[in-house]
Amino acid sequence: MIRPTIIAGNWKHNPKRSAGESLWRGVIGGVEDRRNHSDVDRQQLEVLIFPPLPWLGWIAGCAEEAAAVGWGAQCVSECTTGAFTGEVGAELVRDFGAQWCLVGHSERRTLFGVDDNSVARRVRQALDHELKPVLCIGETLEQRESGETRQIVSEQLEKGLSLCEEGEFPVVAYEPVWAIGTGVTATVEQVAEVHGFLRNRLCELQGEGAQATPILYGGSVKAENAADLLGLDDVDGALVGGASLEAESFLGIVDAGFACRSGRKPETF
Ligand code: PGA
Repeated sequence: MIRPTIIAGNWKHNPKRSAGESLWRGVIGGVEDRRNHSDVDRQQLEVLIFPPLPWLGWIAGCAEEAAAVGWGAQCVSECTTGAFTGEVGAELVRDFGAQWCLVGHSERRTLFGVDDNSVARRVRQALDHELKPVLCIGETLEQRESGETRQIVSEQLEKGLSLCEEGEFPVVAYEPVWAIGTGVTATVEQVAEVHGFLRNRLCELQGEGAQATPILYGGSVKAENAADLLGLDDVDGALVGGASLEAESFLGIVDAGFACRSGRKPETF
């Protein structure tokens, strides 16, 4: 089964202009360099950057230089293009060259009231405009402690995918809310358990084709823990917040991705 490894940096509401330009160039240069010295190609390992919206326009202006990575929006509107002041939708983002978008990140859900129905409509918007969605799901600490993790992620998955048609398989990112930005990473046992569960649920919901869906882990991923997480069978990549804001720390995670792909037997690619 061919599942790419995806290492994605979520810059959130950072950085300012000067820091962002050098971060971008550091990441691009580092990824290009690694690609030039590795047999692992982009079908096997993809690196993505999700910057804030102003950066998307800027990146579109240096698209050739950015050939080593993909990029996208952290959120897309439910609205189509039109009289919706303040909104930025999938069609516009795609038109400016982005290929990807996050949908349903926990900060959108908890701070900005995006619910599961809205997530489903945003996934639909992305797919309608050839933007590849990364559906983000995850339980809060309270939900985990009361034994509701499976139920919560299953519901978020099912509702988030509810407007997908046959043959549409958004990438999934499991991000336990209690591990995001806290420095507390879920243990490999906890991650393996939820990812295995999600793989089965995806196949129940979407058929065996979902075996090819990458499931990323997010929540305090850093260079030091990336290899252990990426080494798990059902972990196909990482969604990285804090550690994506410095080229060196992000590239350390990219390195773990390259190592994990080149260490695998070719037939598992
Ligand atoms: P973190 O953020 O790596 O800072 O925990 C992850 C995310 O929010 O996607």
